[in-house]
Amino acid sequence: MSRFWSSVVHNLSPYVPGEQPKLDGIIKLNTNENPYPPSPRVLAAIVSATDHLRLYPDPHASLLCETIAARYGVAPEEVFVGNGSDEVLAHTFQALLKHDEPLLFPDITYSFYPVYCRLYGVRYEEVPVDAAMRVQIADYRRTSSAILLANPNAPTGIGLAREAIEALVAEHPDQLVVIDEAYVDFGAESAVPLVARYDNLLIVQTLSKSRALAGLRVGFAIGQRPLIEALERVKGSFNSYPLDCLAIAGAVAALKDDAWFEDTRERIIASRESLVHALSELGFAVLPSVANFVFARHRDRGGAFLAAKLRERGVLVRHFQKPRIKDFLRITIGTEDQCKRLIALTRGLI
Ligand SMILES: Cc1ncc(COP(=O)(O)O)c(C=O)c1O
Repeated sequence: MSRFWSSVVHNLSPYVPGEQPKLDGIIKLNTNENPYPPSPRVLAAIVSATDHLRLYPDPHASLLCETIAARYGVAPEEVFVGNGSDEVLAHTFQALLKHDEPLLFPDITYSFYPVYCRLYGVRYEEVPVDAAMRVQIADYRRTSSAILLANPNAPTGIGLAREAIEALVAEHPDQLVVIDEAYVDFGAESAVPLVARYDNLLIVQTLSKSRALAGLRVGFAIGQRPLIEALERVKGSFNSYPLDCLAIAGAVAALKDDAWFEDTRERIIASRESLVHALSELGFAVLPSVANFVFARHRDRGGAFLAAKLRERGVLVRHFQKPRIKDFLRITIGTEDQCKRLIALTRGLI
């Protein structure tokens, strides 16, 4: 604390990301990274982009917006890009979610949302997920300015069908609905096809997970032009160049390598199914996941105990010391070998 702090700083409680250990040989299943490397084309594109390091990057990252637009069947003006989807979300909170009525999001969801609310002074209410940890869209029939859902939700991994998202968006024409699709490529249904029909829908995605580019920091939003304009206005008042030229080149290359994308995500989905099976045999209840992680609770052993013991044995998983979910572990899907090692070690702990 210091007398130089702005008053807002006193009230912040920053997000605590999962551990990024410096040690070699750790099996890292704690931050939902992709266990496979990005497309080899990414590295080649980044190397050739180094020719331009002397210059500022394109402030609009036009090539990337065009590439995203072509892939998702929208106009480039319906795309906003930022330094990771965290930054895209941050701008969304400031540009579109700060109103008199509260923003609604589930009580069990990405824990960055309340952090942004405190930073930007956004009123919010948490809507409890049901006993099965599912989001029930009927529970969002209450006074609000906007609704924010991660789909699939994190840390549960449970997905909502596009039909349910559409029902929510149609039922709340005067509230903005933001869908955070960070994990959508691992088996959920994207709501992007709805954007053309609904001016109150904004989709946020990332290249950190299914494109294996968490270290490059690229996220994007898709929505109708007035929503994108709001994000552009905040971005242009904050940092003209959030994406450097290496990130732009790498992201474009990743989005163009469909074969790599399909192959790695199919492998992750297959490993998820085997991991769910193996965990169930060990006495875990595993929530139905369509993400690159599973959320599981053992019938006898607590989440904190298992996370600590696995850590001692060189495997990192995520545990949240929070009401309703403190008995759970969130386990990122690793390579097949990593998943086998996790299962072997867990067997020795229960
Ligand atoms: C639900 C959700 N949204 C957004 C993000 C942010 O991802 P990034 O900033 O790497 O794009 C994460 C990261 O783990 C997440 O779990």
